[in-house]
Amino acid sequence: MSKPLETTILPVDASKLGTITLSRAKPDALLDDWHVEWADSGSSVANLRHAASELRKGTHPVAFPTETVYGLGADATRSSAVRGIYAAKQRPADNPLIVHVSSLDQLRSLLRSPNDSSSVDPIPAIYHSLIQRFWPGPLTMIMPLPSPSPLAPEVTAQLSTFGARMPRSLIALLLIHLADRPIAAPSANASTKPSPTAAEHVAYDLNGRITTILDGGPCDVGVESTVVDGISGDTPVILRPGGVSIDELRTCPGWERVGVAYKDKAEMGSESESKSGAGEKEARVAPRAPGMKYRHYSPRARVMLFEAGGGVPGQDIVQGQRRIGLIRTKHWPRGCGFNLWEVDLGSDTRAIARGLFSALRELDRKDVDVILVEGIDEREGDVAAAVMNRLRKAAEVEVKGSQQLS
Ligand code: TXA
Ligand code: MG
Repeated sequence: MSKPLETTILPVDASKLGTITLSRAKPDALLDDWHVEWADSGSSVANLRHAASELRKGTHPVAFPTETVYGLGADATRSSAVRGIYAAKQRPADNPLIVHVSSLDQLRSLLRSPNDSSSVDPIPAIYHSLIQRFWPGPLTMIMPLPSPSPLAPEVTAQLSTFGARMPRSLIALLLIHLADRPIAAPSANASTKPSPTAAEHVAYDLNGRITTILDGGPCDVGVESTVVDGISGDTPVILRPGGVSIDELRTCPGWERVGVAYKDKAEMGSESESKSGAGEKEARVAPRAPGMKYRHYSPRARVMLFEAGGGVPGQDIVQGQRRIGLIRTKHWPRGCGFNLWEVDLGSDTRAIARGLFSALRELDRKDVDVILVEGIDEREGDVAAAVMNRLRKAAEVEVKGSQQLS
């Protein structure tokens, strides 16, 4: 074991960084250009600059907020820096990382090999409508990796593609801009734990393993980005449900018939229908996002997930458990008749997504033996599918109606 590092939490207030102005570069540009007028003084700018210089030159990864979850970032072009991410998280090396960019030109430089001087836009045409609609934002697109590529091989874990995302969090966007490097960043939790949606979650998992955590307050979305692949198969697919819903994707040209290529435990062998799909079955193929095969989002306590509409859990279900935690969402009454710790996430789906990982962590700190979670109907759209996808991965037991599955 190497000596623990000193971990510092540096606050950054997004409203004190400066002024952003947008300008349209060309009429057919996919995104507006942006320009920042930095605030003259203040610790927020100083802390952001410090973190950017660590990313550019340092050897330890830097934790920073995004609109989805906190990320653990490193310069995606330097192998030694990227290896630091896997080491700090204890993440399996065959699980590739998402590359975060702050401009389309930065993305283009990752799509062109050095001897490519063509004037054609290297961003695949299938992604243009998604970039216009969702970037910057919680959407990751799988891109072709040129050969040779400026990205460190550790980022892509031997694949011929890489995931790219432009975050809309101002702190994340300006940090990448200042670092002037593409930033590889998985969620900043210890591997297998729930993703962090606040700086203290990162500190709890990675204290002594990293040097710098930027604290920008709680994350807005609360679940990770949606990952889509429009280039590898005949039809575009969703590899991971997330902050952009399938219904939203389907409004974009080229994505009307997007398929689902992730598998939730409960869905194995069954077919589900999207609300907006008017009864149309979604194309289902084998899971392709390498990260989806690992144990994930798991607190110490045993998680029991109750499918939506199945009623409240009976006393028999938790017999013999000393300390019970409960996460309520849309319908369960307070306490459900148990003597327990409870977190009420309310009935708004976006608020449920925002509070979910934090609730799992909070109940773990109360040292409960079991966490009973009230599921929601994933067909309602919005980020409901992402919430249920994460809960199924966290749960050891799923209860459908009154029938218990183990
Ligand atoms: O919201 C997010 O996406 C957060 C923040 C920090 O941006 N990041 C995040 O990264 O969730 P991570 O490493 O925890 O999840 C990356 C997901 C994994 O499921 C991984 O397998 C998949 O993206 N992925 C990355 N590159 C891929 C590729 N080339 N092909 C298929 N899947 C890929
Ligand atoms: Mg993760």
